[in-house]
Amino acid sequence: MATDPTARTHDQILAELAARDERARLGGGEAAIDKQHQRGKLTARERLDALLDTGSFRELDRHVVHDCTDFGMADKRVPGDGVVTGYGRIEGRLVYVFAQDFTVFGGSLSAAYARKICKVMDLATNNGAPVIGLNDSGGARIQEGVASLGGYADIFLRNTLASGVVPQLSAIMGPCAGGAVYSPAITDFIVMVEKTSFMFVTGPEVIKTVTHEDVTKEELGGAVTHTEKSGVAHFHVPDELACLALLRELLSYMPDNNLSEPPRRETNDVSDRDCPALDTIVPTNPNKPYDVKDVITAVADEGRFLEVQPGYAGNIVVGFCRLGGRSVGVVANQPAHLAGVLDVDSSLKGARFVRFCDAFNIPLWVIEDVPGFLPGVQQEHGGIIKHGAKLLYAFCEATVPKVTLVTRKAYGGAYCVMNSKHIRADLNFAWPTAEIAVMGPEGAVNIIFRRELADAADPVAKKAELVAEYREKFANPYRAAELGFLDDVIAPRTTRARLVEAFDSLAGKRDRNPPKKHGNIPL
Ligand code: HXC
Repeated sequence: MATDPTARTHDQILAELAARDERARLGGGEAAIDKQHQRGKLTARERLDALLDTGSFRELDRHVVHDCTDFGMADKRVPGDGVVTGYGRIEGRLVYVFAQDFTVFGGSLSAAYARKICKVMDLATNNGAPVIGLNDSGGARIQEGVASLGGYADIFLRNTLASGVVPQLSAIMGPCAGGAVYSPAITDFIVMVEKTSFMFVTGPEVIKTVTHEDVTKEELGGAVTHTEKSGVAHFHVPDELACLALLRELLSYMPDNNLSEPPRRETNDVSDRDCPALDTIVPTNPNKPYDVKDVITAVADEGRFLEVQPGYAGNIVVGFCRLGGRSVGVVANQPAHLAGVLDVDSSLKGARFVRFCDAFNIPLWVIEDVPGFLPGVQQEHGGIIKHGAKLLYAFCEATVPKVTLVTRKAYGGAYCVMNSKHIRADLNFAWPTAEIAVMGPEGAVNIIFRRELADAADPVAKKAELVAEYREKFANPYRAAELGFLDDVIAPRTTRARLVEAFDSLAGKRDRNPPKKHGNIPL
């Protein structure tokens, strides 16, 4: 049989594939990669290598190019088009990923690039696996105009539809500006890298023109700003490797999707280990603070607690730990910050975290020591009613196993809100130091004994006597325990044993809310 003289050899065919792969691997080219490194940033592929289990990344769409012909773009096509997408493994678990490649057109988003991201998001949702996005982009590809905007909107829709179905994690590792910020904002957690990342809707130049304010990029939307002031981001980390390691750890507490359970991790920490330090952790003076994180780390497996939003609204502490190997979401009032009071910011922080845990089958451990909601004109005018209602709503609607531990104060509306029995907590425990009442003894006496105090020969002594009487009667856990609002009053040192047992006993919990399209949380 005659051979076709124009036919290529197998070696040539394979060489072309290798050449195309190499071209895609280089992204924007050696010079752009050097520039990326000089900025202290890794490339998209280097980031994926550090994020995923070694050798597990499988790239999709590496040959995709944009279809724009305006502004000389027909001659500027780079395989992959500025975003590396695909799937891989983290601790053996499947995840879908996209990593924006700043070396190609500044990581800017074209229609083709958006289609690549949408493809992995669809695969993730259909296959029940988390999505991790590594963001580093100049925003909409200016040469493509509305086609690029449409691409963003396609992604926002998928972020929304995937919300509560698969965990979505975002890392901000470079610029993230304009409407592009709304994709990470819809995802579950945002990690920002210090100094090299920023997020804002309009940048410093536009702000200068419109409001005449002078602000740097860092002050406006840097990692510290968003983790400490705005609450937009959840973590800031010193460098990219720390960011990628944190994403891996964060994922270890989550299930693959809303229909699966979080992975259980073997632990050598004994389930019924005594925690003697807890017997004396609550000061006898009710106005003295203590650090609730010491309670969490004393009880958690191996003392490990991954705090979420540690720099924001410190009066509530949220994060993940394990108890007997089970992943648990912790929501705790923090007496060491503003006495643990509930305010606008802490309500928002707590509510969003509770809803995440509930969406993804992560049981909740609530630690309560709260003097109430923060009084003040600023809070009332800032909408503490609707924001506090979000936290209440979030606890009420949550159907995951819910366990509450009252360590000290559980006053007023805050008693109801913080996962009380009445709103479907499964097991409610208190330490003997608990004080469960409508308000603190001082406030209560001022109101109910106003006349007696006015008539008293020595009002100071009278007040001290009445406060002591009130404290004796109500500032303890036993009235609530008599009513069955608490299931037990426990010795603090037994807390770990009791909690591990409690969550074990609730592992088969089945509860569901009435069928509805969706509720109407007071946004
Ligand atoms: C096309 C872009 C681009 C963009 C950057 N580049 N942003 N190309 N569209 N949006 C290109 C640059 O032309 C340059 O190409 C390369 O990427 C690197 O950019 P530099 O400016 O050299 O880098 P740097 O100095 O680090 O500045 C990065 C930057 C800046 C801060 C991101 O490039 C910038 O301000 N870009 C524009 C940002 C912006 O306004 N985007 C639109 C936002 S509105 P060469 O060929 O020179 O290497 C938006 C709407 C989204 O995104 C709406 C969603 C609903």
